[in-house]
Amino acid sequence: MSGKFTQIYDQSIKNPEDFWKKASDDIFWFKKPNKILNKSNPPFYKWYEDGVTNTCYNALDFHIDQGKGNKIALIYDSPITGNKSKFTYEQLRSKVSKFAGALKDQGVNKGDRVIIYMPMIPEAVVAMLACARIGAIHSVVFGGFASNELASRIDDSKAKLLVTASCGFEPGRTVEYKPLVDEAIKQAKHKISKMILFQRKDHEVKLSAPMEISWDEAHANTKDTDCVEMNSNEFAYILYTSGTTGTPKGIVRDIGGHIVALKWTMKNIYNIDADDIWWSASDIGWIVGHSYIVYAPLFKGCTTVLFEGKPVGTPDAGAFWKIISDYKVKSLFTAPTAFRAIKKEDPEGKFFSKYDLSKFESLFLAGERADPDTIKWAENLLKVPVIDHWWQTETSWAISSNCTGIEMMKTKYGSACKAVPGYDVKIIKSDQTLAKPNEMGDIVVKLPLPPGTFPTLWNADQRYKENYMSNYEGYYQTYDAGHIDEDGYIWIMSRTDDIINVAGHRLSTGAIEEVLSEHQSVAECAVLGIADKLKGQLPIGLIVLKAGVEKDDDTISKECIKMVREKIGPVAAFKVAIVIKRLPKTRSGKILRGTIRKIADNVEYKMPPTIDDPAILDEIKEDLIKNNILKSA
Ligand code: COA
Ligand code: AMP
Repeated sequence: MSGKFTQIYDQSIKNPEDFWKKASDDIFWFKKPNKILNKSNPPFYKWYEDGVTNTCYNALDFHIDQGKGNKIALIYDSPITGNKSKFTYEQLRSKVSKFAGALKDQGVNKGDRVIIYMPMIPEAVVAMLACARIGAIHSVVFGGFASNELASRIDDSKAKLLVTASCGFEPGRTVEYKPLVDEAIKQAKHKISKMILFQRKDHEVKLSAPMEISWDEAHANTKDTDCVEMNSNEFAYILYTSGTTGTPKGIVRDIGGHIVALKWTMKNIYNIDADDIWWSASDIGWIVGHSYIVYAPLFKGCTTVLFEGKPVGTPDAGAFWKIISDYKVKSLFTAPTAFRAIKKEDPEGKFFSKYDLSKFESLFLAGERADPDTIKWAENLLKVPVIDHWWQTETSWAISSNCTGIEMMKTKYGSACKAVPGYDVKIIKSDQTLAKPNEMGDIVVKLPLPPGTFPTLWNADQRYKENYMSNYEGYYQTYDAGHIDEDGYIWIMSRTDDIINVAGHRLSTGAIEEVLSEHQSVAECAVLGIADKLKGQLPIGLIVLKAGVEKDDDTISKECIKMVREKIGPVAAFKVAIVIKRLPKTRSGKILRGTIRKIADNVEYKMPPTIDDPAILDEIKEDLIKNNILKSA
């Protein structure tokens, strides 16, 4: 190894201010920052506090200023509708600056919040960038979430306006957004003042003026609108993510650090240059979509693909290869579950052989652990490096990865490679001491976190401090557990809280339990994520009924499943609710979720010494066998 990576990594840790000062020279500033890092009020660090810039300017105008207005910025391909289009930087800016004007016409100003609840269509990207242009803070809500979740985000963000579309398309099903939005608006205590709805072709819905107007009506008298100057530490967006309770956490991103860090990652982590075609097959409602469908590739000035489809079924398991081949994609970023879905449908790679992937150079996977089987299958098929890298909504970019633009490192199957420059990752054991190589513990990152991460939570400084920065003084607690080996490779083994990862979607079992507890027959319940070959994990619910309930178990189970779908959304993929007699607990009354999960996953477990009544574990085993979760021995 030449040591280039080690050299750069060491510089970033020894002298972060120098390192991130240099990186900041690569972006456009209305006023360059003199103060690189303010450390005076830990854990609230400020990057580039006296810098003045604009997110949208860096994504669009900056490249047009450099004479690249005719270059393709965005390729939209929707196998689900058959629509395709391409937008140059100039064309995209024109759409964005007009919609920015439309937002202003509706009274949206700098600092106001705008909820975006939309499918994967170019207008969603336009809406995000238009907010950035006028300094409004967007909060994109994933389309697979139900009204209840949307309402909680409206309330927490106190959004002024909501942008939506008439519908989204899932294979075999049209997702009618309007009734979902109407219900959310009804449920929310905070009242938004306006809704702008994009009418999809042949799927128009009725609107009630003046509160609800169409995308076209919003553009009626609109003018091109320029980028406003934003202080580096003002917020670009809020992205809500699952917390350990039903109340989602509003992760915020400050403007300057976000632009600097994301632009830096495109070359250094992904080896993408301005002339390359890049594709992130995620959804704009998730952090991967924010960072790598929209912002990072546009900051870099390359071409990004917006794909409205699925890895399988739209129309077949060759959908990904078709996109890569049609647009000469250099690198793809997606979740391992997408590749597991393709592998399941087309294990021999028959579809693959129909396409020309000669321009394809690398595949990046994240969102959940990439199992070695899937990585090896993809490597064999694609004959390119397959890179598992680890990150979180909180950080917005990878904490550990093979930094392919700096130096290609060898793959260790099952590891998410080494800490990326900027992140000083450590393992802390339960006795609060730092772990030696290969010793398991909580994965933490020494403060300050690099630019582009989360400076706080929306309106919740105290929650930020208590939740993430207090258990280990001077460190950010990732809530992932694992170890670092003797070569510095990081191995992510599990979450330490109640978060589960279902098909790359982050969900809280606590939030699902809150919904189940609302059922009038349910006395108590436990929800756990059990291993699933396709989706990584799937939630199952174990329910204990109140005494004297007369309804039959099957009806209650169906009602519970329906409630979760209605309150959290189809994305929870909650399809199993089993009525049981008792839950195993410790003598102090704590439900032994970890032990039940091990039983369900059929892995070895130790009888917890504090268990109240060991016989309950046998009862649970029987119930899991009866419900086909577990095979009988
Ligand atoms: N709007 C509305 N509903 C949505 C939705 C959206 N944007 N996205 C998913 N859903 C629904 C699906 O229609 C499905 O509903 P159903 O219960 O009626 O079938 C449910 O939510 C679960 O969806 P999903 O998790 O996507 O499972 P699936 O079985 O439909 O597809 C995969 C499986 C693997 C193909 C799919 O999960 C996938 O493509 N995953 C990629 C993950 C990803 O991009 N993660 C982002 C982080 S990198
Ligand atoms: P999200 O905030 O939705 O991106 O989810 C973040 C969580 O997903 C992390 O805390 C991990 O638990 C998990 N995760 C993401 N990437 C990986 C990876 N490469 N390996 C293992 N777990 C991962």
